Amino acid sequence: MSDGAYRTAYEQSMDDPDAFWGEAATAIDWVTPPPTVLDASNPPFYRWFTGGTLNTCFNALDRHVRDGRGEQAALIYDSPVTGTTRTYSYAELLGEVSRFAGALASLGVEKGDRVVIYMPMVPEAVIGMLACARLGAVHSVVFGGFAPAELAARIEDAKPKVVLSASCGIEPARVVEYKPMLDGALDRSSHTPESVIVLQRPQAPAAIGERDTDWEEMDWAELVADAEPADCVTVAATDPLYILYTSGTTGRPKGIVRDNGGHAVALRWSMGNVFGVGPGDVWFTASDVGWVVGHSYIVYAPLLTGATTVLYEGKPVGTPDASAFWRILAEYGCSAMFTAPTAYRAIRREDPDGTLLAAYDLSRLRTLFLAGERLDPDTYEWASALLGVPVVDNWWQTETGWPIAANLRGLEPMPIKAGSPSVPVSGYAVEVLDGAGHPVPAGEEGAICIKLPMPPGTLPTLWNDDERYVSGYLSAYEGYYLTGDGGLIDEDGYLFVLGRTDDVLNVAGHRLSTGSIEAALAGHPDVAECAVIGVADDFKGQVPRGLVVLKGGVDAEAEGPRITRELVQRVRDEVGPVAALKQVDVVSGLPKTRSGKILRKTMREIADGRTPNVPGTIEDATVLDALKPVLRPDA
Ligand code: COA
Ligand code: AMP
Repeated sequence: MSDGAYRTAYEQSMDDPDAFWGEAATAIDWVTPPPTVLDASNPPFYRWFTGGTLNTCFNALDRHVRDGRGEQAALIYDSPVTGTTRTYSYAELLGEVSRFAGALASLGVEKGDRVVIYMPMVPEAVIGMLACARLGAVHSVVFGGFAPAELAARIEDAKPKVVLSASCGIEPARVVEYKPMLDGALDRSSHTPESVIVLQRPQAPAAIGERDTDWEEMDWAELVADAEPADCVTVAATDPLYILYTSGTTGRPKGIVRDNGGHAVALRWSMGNVFGVGPGDVWFTASDVGWVVGHSYIVYAPLLTGATTVLYEGKPVGTPDASAFWRILAEYGCSAMFTAPTAYRAIRREDPDGTLLAAYDLSRLRTLFLAGERLDPDTYEWASALLGVPVVDNWWQTETGWPIAANLRGLEPMPIKAGSPSVPVSGYAVEVLDGAGHPVPAGEEGAICIKLPMPPGTLPTLWNDDERYVSGYLSAYEGYYLTGDGGLIDEDGYLFVLGRTDDVLNVAGHRLSTGSIEAALAGHPDVAECAVIGVADDFKGQVPRGLVVLKGGVDAEAEGPRITRELVQRVRDEVGPVAALKQVDVVSGLPKTRSGKILRKTMREIADGRTPNVPGTIEDATVLDALKPVLRPDA
């Protein structure tokens, strides 16, 4: 590992977090500068910048206009699926956000109220998020690829006063009508918002206010037309900025809470030190505002930095072809881009020699950042050779909100090792522990954990559920946060992340819960029991597979094909198309321990062609033998 700037900063962040993060906090405009940096008064609930007050929207927009960036592009919306582009300067975006904040305020939205945002990749989604931040309201964005049941679960938990949506999203092959899905979710949710605001899109306008509902439905444009701009509401550093639901192993999503102060400080710090991006740079993150990568690196970090962010409503391929990213990078002069490895695998599949790149000038591009799933060495090598710039893996999760491990391009670029996201980022005391909670020697595998306290910007708790926060993350090893990933640290201090140790799925960089998919399968009248496992896939990294045991009396041979077709459709309808479940097999039994726990990991190992780890507590080992030909037919 280095002896230079990285090591100095890392050691200071460990030895004197108050000095380190106190200094980083000076990059943020505070209403009341924080009298405290690390607040360790109530472990294991650590807080940052207690006593400080600020407004996140002010830091993302107003102060840049104040400081002379009003005419600089803040947001470039590029939408090949609608054939639209639009650039918002900082002054324009501030105008739009203030007006929309005024519209929300006119509906009674106040500090602390929740607003659910279920929208495609349109500027209004970003405007909605920032308008909430302006009012001190708490947004909760739900990814558009989730179906009504998932949306309903999030609405029930967040209890929003207002829901923002659009009439449709646009996937390359189809227009996805959002309004019927939102109606479906609201009909099944026990919580009723006061208002629903719908952005009409010409590709599929929605019927607004025509149904008899307990909530008022409104047209976005009409509402904004009458709105007065709203000013920033001062909030405490420790007040929530947003809730972002993420998948655990059970079907109940976890509401990750993000605070205002720590988040602003950490993201601003990460932009310069991890990503090497500064004010005025153009930055392109191809993800979705429904994921944490979108929250942090499409919206907040670039705007907190005074950079220009590209909001891309399209895919890496098919909109119209595998040169889509090259066009964006060239057209806007992007200095860095961020996406998931799957996107590059998609490009490679379409254009293996990268011939489409030749038509574009990418001379301003300095770095490609990849995260969201494991960056396989093959994709790393391909992208590096093609682009001729450093390809930088970084590892983190919704819970942390910004990289835990990375090659810190701004602070001190280091040699890259394929297969590793490099080293722990300042503030993260990363350790690999064995089953007894002891650090393992270099090169040995174990559970990747982070010694508490975690740095600013990471989750302080789960929404309304301190208990689940402690039981889910902090109780495995006293004094440590359990990441859920397994891996190792090599003799040079480089981390290698080898995958989840729990049953969380990662499909094309999208985090999904086995529990939700299983709940959808189990709801079928002919299914007695079921299991979902994630199996390795060359393109999406992992894909889900369903295994079901049918109820007694159902003729598997005759009815099986119909039932499995219905099950695939059920998962699409209940969880969403993003679950990408294509294969369900009818089996005669599922392997379990004597206490009834289904051995998903063992099945996963068989499906992936690895030597299965069969626990001694297995109830009936012959079940596994019967499953082998189903799980791995070619073996
Ligand atoms: N709204 C509605 N449906 C959506 C959706 C959205 N926002 N996003 C995806 N879907 C649908 C897709 O249309 C697809 O439906 P289909 O089964 O009818 O084809 C399904 O969900 C699966 O989507 P996805 O996993 O994205 O697969 P894909 O084959 O459509 O695209 C990639 C594959 C690689 C192009 C795409 O996943 C991608 O760009 N991923 C990398 C970037 C990224 O967003 N990472 C997330 C975190 S960084
Ligand atoms: P999410 O919360 O959706 O960002 O998903 C987080 C999970 O994705 C992590 O716990 C990892 O399992 C996986 N992940 C994210 N980034 C990486 C990476 N760079 N390398 C390996 N796995 C990753």
